[in-house]
Amino acid sequence: MTALVAPEALENVPPAVERPHLSVVYGRQAAARPWWRSASIYQIYVRSFCDSNGDGVGDLGGVLGKLHHVASLGVDAIWLTPFFESPMVDGGYDVADYRSVDPRFGDHETVDRIIEEAHGLGMRVMIEVVPNHVSSSHQWFKNAVSDPTHKDRSKFHFRDPSPVGGTPNNWRSAFGGPAWSLEPSGRQYYLHLFSREQPDLNWEDPEVRADFEQTLRFWLDRGIDGFRVDVAHGLFKDPLYRDNPELPREVRGGLAQGDGERHCWNLPEVHEVYRGWRRILDSYTGERAMLGEVGVVDREQLALYVRPDEFPLAYEFEFIHTEWDAVATKETVSRLLRALDAVGAPATWVLSNHDVLRAVTRYGGGEQGLRRARAKALLAMALPGAMIIYNGDELGLEDIDVPEEALSDPIALVAGVPGRDGSRAPIPWSSEGPAFGFSEAGSWLPVPDGWGGRSAVLQERDPFSTLWLYRLALSIRRLPALCAGDMRWLDAPEGVLAFERRYGKQRIHCIVNFSARPIVMQQGDVLLSSSLRPIGGVLEPDTACWVMAPSGDT
Ligand code: GLC
Repeated sequence: MTALVAPEALENVPPAVERPHLSVVYGRQAAARPWWRSASIYQIYVRSFCDSNGDGVGDLGGVLGKLHHVASLGVDAIWLTPFFESPMVDGGYDVADYRSVDPRFGDHETVDRIIEEAHGLGMRVMIEVVPNHVSSSHQWFKNAVSDPTHKDRSKFHFRDPSPVGGTPNNWRSAFGGPAWSLEPSGRQYYLHLFSREQPDLNWEDPEVRADFEQTLRFWLDRGIDGFRVDVAHGLFKDPLYRDNPELPREVRGGLAQGDGERHCWNLPEVHEVYRGWRRILDSYTGERAMLGEVGVVDREQLALYVRPDEFPLAYEFEFIHTEWDAVATKETVSRLLRALDAVGAPATWVLSNHDVLRAVTRYGGGEQGLRRARAKALLAMALPGAMIIYNGDELGLEDIDVPEEALSDPIALVAGVPGRDGSRAPIPWSSEGPAFGFSEAGSWLPVPDGWGGRSAVLQERDPFSTLWLYRLALSIRRLPALCAGDMRWLDAPEGVLAFERRYGKQRIHCIVNFSARPIVMQQGDVLLSSSLRPIGGVLEPDTACWVMAPSGDT
């Protein structure tokens, strides 16, 4: 590999926040402003990350102990999945008290220490807020079902059976089956777009709105830098509870809702709520951020969520689910960029998460899957915008096969499909031990033999490991061209995708070979290749590389 960057390329670039890692390589750094426009955010699925107390479940103490690993990647922020009090029917997305910390995960003091240490390491801390539904153990729901006259009843959607009997309408739960269940007394049905233990809130109730605003302030006051907002396109429902014109075709996590389900998703009233939240965030110092999980199919509808006074970033699913194909990928990227450019918002590129198959598995598993996942990581990191890394992607993890008796995802239990447990396997930190360094004891999900072969400790020693690929890529991504440069597509042979990022004189090309044949590279210095065994002058199938283009070249 040649010199990473010519020093003159860094002239006239505003200095960014000083970071402890790798800053010596570049001296000065550029960043798009505000920080989130080019952020790299590392998603920590807390219960699978690291267990500090030997109960087999990942916790906040475990997160604290591994912050150096995360910081060594060079990410801008971490996002912690829900750690609030919860019966854990949906892995913590069934929240019983939004300002608490579930004792299984730790306590408020540990959250404070995470904030302090992460800040010291140059990373921001985002947590999750789940506004569409609560747990059926939430005090509001307990009040609502215990007394039909209780004021908390209006915080939910209770409806009589349809005139012909049965559920009030045809709405379906995203986890399978009807979205309505009878309350314990059998009096009325209540709405739950996810499991029956996750009753949907009625966002027309002013107390619901006021209470969430108080929750946001509670965590912002503690020093949290922002929120990932779960199913942000939920919240409001058709006041007439009309049937949806179409029923969902598939039951699976991580799918976007289309217009066919327009009466229970993506109602326009939702935007006013997020404008209010944005005002709250903006009233704090330090560019606090909000990442909305916006599972809508229509790109123009998605863009409405990232208008200047709403979400800074929107998390979407099309890039994740795009097949391994140059044309399809170009189309996905172009459509998203076009829609977001129209409102001046950055894109957010997501490779995997706890709701979908990991990229390695999605792209065929084994070595082929790994090659493609590594290539897609370089693609995502070279595109303009922010990106999310799901913990374990930096180790090139695959989904595991979960034995039936160990399944815990409500999708698997309700719909009888494999569900999402496979992508939630505990992280292998060491090559040996009962749970490969995840825990002193076992783990809440059994991990396969050989899982330690992917461990962080082994990858640390291998310069071609996925761990090192991520570290190098994330540091090179701080170059002005990649974090703040303009983008244009370049001509490329069939099956190849190529684009340029440019900032002043600095021009970086990203080339991805989706085809089955090797491509001969022409000019420029290769900054980084996703290849497992790089060969000079050739871009192998299922491989991406970044090239520093000569400054005279167009
Ligand atoms: C989001 C979460 C998912 C959860 C669902 C319901 O999609 O990512 O894990 O099951 O919301 O809260």
